[in-house]
Amino acid sequence: MKTPAEINQENWIRTAVVYQIYPRSFKDTSGNGIGDLNGIIEKLDYLNNGTEKSLGVDAIWLSPVYKSPMVDFGYDVSDHYSIDPIFGTLETFDKLTAEVHKRSMKLIIDFIPNHTSSKHPWFLESCASRNNPKRDWYVWHDPKPDGSPPNNWLSNFGGSAWSYEERTKQYYLHSWAKEQPDLNWRNDEVRNEMNKILKFWLDRGVDGFRVDAVPSLIEDLYFRDDIPNPNYVPGKDNPLNKFHRVYSQGRPETIDIINSFCNILEGYKNKFMVTESHIQLPEMIKMYQACDSKMHFPFNFNLMDLSWNAQAFKRFIDTFDKSLGTEDWPNYVLGNHDLARLVSRIGKSQARIAAMLLLTLRGTPFIYYGEELGMKDVNTTSERIQDILEKQIPGKNLGRDPERSPMQWNEHPYGGFSKVDPWLPIAEDYKTINIESESADPRSMLNLYRKLIHYRKKSSALIQGTYQSMDLENEDIFAFVRDSKKEKVVIILNFSNKQQRVSLTTKNAKVICNTLLDRKFGSEVNLENLTLGPNEGYLVDISKG
Ligand code: GLC
Repeated sequence: MKTPAEINQENWIRTAVVYQIYPRSFKDTSGNGIGDLNGIIEKLDYLNNGTEKSLGVDAIWLSPVYKSPMVDFGYDVSDHYSIDPIFGTLETFDKLTAEVHKRSMKLIIDFIPNHTSSKHPWFLESCASRNNPKRDWYVWHDPKPDGSPPNNWLSNFGGSAWSYEERTKQYYLHSWAKEQPDLNWRNDEVRNEMNKILKFWLDRGVDGFRVDAVPSLIEDLYFRDDIPNPNYVPGKDNPLNKFHRVYSQGRPETIDIINSFCNILEGYKNKFMVTESHIQLPEMIKMYQACDSKMHFPFNFNLMDLSWNAQAFKRFIDTFDKSLGTEDWPNYVLGNHDLARLVSRIGKSQARIAAMLLLTLRGTPFIYYGEELGMKDVNTTSERIQDILEKQIPGKNLGRDPERSPMQWNEHPYGGFSKVDPWLPIAEDYKTINIESESADPRSMLNLYRKLIHYRKKSSALIQGTYQSMDLENEDIFAFVRDSKKEKVVIILNFSNKQQRVSLTTKNAKVICNTLLDRKFGSEVNLENLTLGPNEGYLVDISKG
């Protein structure tokens, strides 16, 4: 085990592989069918026990565990200073933090500054009267003269972003569900209180935050209508595309708020922050510039928006890598609790290519729990639907239950996740796709993840080397070189399900691993004439090439 000083190393996020846990679905120990903090503690050795038998991740990001009525499963917080009893207590949380640190890992928690639960005492006070001291903590507005909402802004969960409050005869804003009223970030008391919350958790020992729903944080000062989208097809398109949402989200004032969070973090040592926004490259760069800190970046979700195509990936990654300032650090995400699982999007075989890509690119990789097993989306019957998004915009494939199904630990009933029927159904493939059976299969997806993560730890090329893509004749191959001067590796990925030939100028190469895990570490490979099997990828050492 490392000493605390070693754990507290500077800029740790730049060498880390981050693993996202959706606590409701990781491991249930209380027997109610819902995952909890004790379950996470019980399974920490799976994530990292200091040996190559464990997955080997360096940091855990926990989706929210604050006290919450669970309308949006914890993204509706009713008390920022306590843990929901479903998950445990503050003491269990402290134990979790200590156990994570004991294993030389870091703990990142969700921070939800845009809104609270409508059951939060602040909002209850705010609703009580127009003169209540907390009135201005939320965004209130008079109706239009005809009684309708103040403007055309939409909730991300469907319908108007405004709900009428009968007692005080005004509308309040909710960028998400009506049970998630937006806080007013133009109010200094709100800003101070949110800073206090950050400090509360930093003082308890967390290592960083994932900041939720950043584009929604602040809206147009003049409450101007969003602009109608002329291409919108009613009934067919996602109702959220009805407008170009330029006044209700992504306002320039957001940068200043992010900067204020960074200032809080800077009062501590080596604390990290990642901001959640589905934004394109130019906006991402602005977000990078919000803080000088080397321990902050915006999530890069762009790979998930691309069609699964070698050339599209090459183009985006080349541009992204070059656009960043020398102090900016890249990151890549291929899945999370809001998006369909990799296997369901691109198939089992290409999911192995995705694993190799994610773990060899320059930048911090984020892995969503279960991706390392090749878990797939699990469709729920209509009676079992849990997700508010599916309830509010049904039948459009927007629901997020499928990617939140319980973790598949073993072949016992309910995949060893719980002793009772879980809150969401377990995948029917759990008897074969689970940690126990994949651990025993040397060529499983799990062992591919393990191999790549552990190799990455030791590899100066993968951790800090430069990134340079290769221009190849073959359109289906994406290949790139990572070079740290001490070590040079090349990654060659076949994005197609057909055999492909490639010819590189390097002769002397040694296999580190291939995605099928059937090539021996250290065996020679001739890159001048390489045949890649369908859906096959190679990680190869060319330091002596
Ligand atoms: C973020 C979360 C999502 C949540 C929403 C509202 O997008 O990732 O799960 O529903 O914010 O808090």
